[in-house]
Amino acid sequence: MEKRKKWSSSVLFIMACVGSAVGLGNIWKFPYITFENGGGAFVLIYLFAIFMVGLPILLAEMLIGREAEANAYDSVKKLAGKVKSWRIIGALALFSSFAILSFYSVVAGWTLDYFFNAVTGNLAHLTFESTGPHFGAFVANPLKQVGYHTVFMSLTAFIILRGTKGIEKAIEILMPILGVLILLVAGVAISKYGSAQTLDFLFTVDFSKVTGHGILEAFGHAFFTLSIGLGAMIVYGSYFPREHSLGKAAIWIGILDTVFALMACLMIYPIIFGSGMNVKESSSILFTTLSVELQQLPGGQYICALFYLLVAFAALSSTISLLEPIASFAEEHWKISRKKATLVSAFSIWFLGLASALSNGASDLFTSLKVMDRLDYLTSNWTLPVGAFLVALFCGWWLSDEIKTRELGLKKNDTLYFMWNFLIRIVSPLILLIVFIYKLLQ
Ligand code: TRP
Repeated sequence: MEKRKKWSSSVLFIMACVGSAVGLGNIWKFPYITFENGGGAFVLIYLFAIFMVGLPILLAEMLIGREAEANAYDSVKKLAGKVKSWRIIGALALFSSFAILSFYSVVAGWTLDYFFNAVTGNLAHLTFESTGPHFGAFVANPLKQVGYHTVFMSLTAFIILRGTKGIEKAIEILMPILGVLILLVAGVAISKYGSAQTLDFLFTVDFSKVTGHGILEAFGHAFFTLSIGLGAMIVYGSYFPREHSLGKAAIWIGILDTVFALMACLMIYPIIFGSGMNVKESSSILFTTLSVELQQLPGGQYICALFYLLVAFAALSSTISLLEPIASFAEEHWKISRKKATLVSAFSIWFLGLASALSNGASDLFTSLKVMDRLDYLTSNWTLPVGAFLVALFCGWWLSDEIKTRELGLKKNDTLYFMWNFLIRIVSPLILLIVFIYKLLQ
């Protein structure tokens, strides 16, 4: 058998996973869902979900992939042996990646428009009053929506075709720059508007503000932002050389991902609270609130352009991790060429994405069906958590201690192994079950 191609180093692997994890989920989605869910208590539940449930499952996914050396569907199939019902994990995973990428690519396309318009100076006239309507008109423009979605899907497919070598190197350089830029903008926003209200909002825990919906959303988002629940990390793990530590990789991913999400809030909230802006559509604050403020910085036009370009890049390193599971499945499962697999998958996802692209005012039908919101809701709140739940059961109860300890480089009676196994066998599934039931009863 041909030896599976591997990442060239552990750092590149971690970078690729961080590239997948850090994306629109951190910079676009986290700030607005935290805003909608009242702050502090939601953040606390989210952090709990990341570190107690998300990270153990992230480790489980990477371990499954490295052990089986295949795409998510075939990895699970291989390790499950005769028991066919585990294949539901693979099937659900394919559905989730398909659905998420279809709308994710549309939002990623928005960053390209903001980049181009910033470069050409077309955002300079925006004020806190006019930015909302400007955004509304943009997302209702069918030509632009479909156009940018097409560009973004093409870029993604192109990289998946060409191999990811270049992009891993680029992630290593561009992600830190994005981090520094976010910190810089956060610094400016805080020094201009103060941080008291932001910190109060983010860290004052008031459980009366959380609803069943909010709890489910916090868990769902934890999976979304760590890129787990649909086998993307199974695929990435399958390329990870045996001599490196999976545990270390998982911890780095968890920390960096969380730092990016919190920094995004520190950048956006001071502006919202300080400028007295009336946030009507919180899902657009990354574009509306921020573009106005960025323009006011010295050299604002260019800083704004650079910012959206880097966000586009962060989104691109996430979209490739959404297309790869589908393309590698098509390639390995149906034994077709990489090229054909990529093009067919990308085209079908693009096609489904048209419905999302037209669902923000461009088409009456798709707007009334709220296609984008519904796909986001269905995947983030249901199919990802259910996928993660099944992965936890599969890894916790089905895989042998022998496989797991070998992959983790631990011994069966190590405390660390015991703790992780306990989390994944009992704690994660139980918590998720409670969350599902609580939500369904409400
Ligand atoms: N984690 C990415 C983000 O936060 C999105 C993403 C990429 C994803 N690959 C994934 C989500 C796989 C779930 C599963 O933007």
